[in-house]
Amino acid sequence: MMWYRPDQSLGQGAQAHLQVRGLSAGYGPVRVLRDVSLEARSGLTVILGPNGAGKTTLLKALNGLIPRQGEVLLNREELPEKTHEIVRDGVALVAEGRQLFGQMTVLENLELGGWLLNKAERPRRIAQAFENFPKLKERATQLAGTMSGGEQQMVAVARAMMSAPRLLMLDEPSLGLAPKMVDELLGIARRIANAGTTVLMVEQNVKKALAVADRGYVLERGQIVASGDARLLARSSVVLEAYLGAEGVETTDARDAMQRRKPRSPS
Ligand SMILES: Nc1ncnc2c1ncn2[C@@H]1O[C@H](COP(=O)(O)OP(=O)(O)O)[C@@H](O)[C@H]1O
Ligand SMILES: [Mg+2]
Repeated sequence: MMWYRPDQSLGQGAQAHLQVRGLSAGYGPVRVLRDVSLEARSGLTVILGPNGAGKTTLLKALNGLIPRQGEVLLNREELPEKTHEIVRDGVALVAEGRQLFGQMTVLENLELGGWLLNKAERPRRIAQAFENFPKLKERATQLAGTMSGGEQQMVAVARAMMSAPRLLMLDEPSLGLAPKMVDELLGIARRIANAGTTVLMVEQNVKKALAVADRGYVLERGQIVASGDARLLARSSVVLEAYLGAEGVETTDARDAMQRRKPRSPS
């Protein structure tokens, strides 16, 4: 798979390195994230954690959708605050729930993803998207809203890749998908990372996500509680006890397992 590499007009090229230090963010007076520090280097970094931990809030803060405090650097330069500037800087987000235009075709959705590109560039990028996602080529004229969940997620990822981001953020790409589609979507994330786009992915499919990721973080109650090499993290006590069960086998859906956790008394 060949991903179309960013052109010079977007000011991109080097592999993206995201550094977050002391990040706080929330909604109005409610602070959800407290002093979060993490980084996403070239490759695939996954953020795990139970429902309500603040994973989506983190991606929103990194995309300028909510205000943030703290330091966020992309290749050692402070990330802008406004979403459109962040996008222009080469950061793309596939939000939870995909947010496709259901009444528009696959092709039209992809064209919207290329809004920053000049007119001459767009068809090249579309052709590239269809090369990377052959399944979508067959469905170019289908209304996005009539596709399966997995196919829609694929369109959302392809649309985000239209802007040739240097940093791609994915919020639970496998949410609600059948196991085969989960594997396919996580495989796509891996291939995008292999082709040079830094990927920061939120997931609740703990075992599968750690199997494709290079590094990972565990976020609980707005704070990072564990981090490290994905293979080591998969064997760490935090992940084994909380998410995978003692045998390292996902005995039940990770989402249920996480929801069933007993709340810890505040430290
Ligand atoms: N728009 C919002 N306004 C107020 N609180 C919110 C909003 N969105 C999320 N929250 C709260 O922020 C916390 C973290 O939510 P979220 O980032 O969506 O968690 P996760 O993605 O890890 O499941 C939760 O307590 C949630 O209720
Ligand atoms: Mg979320």
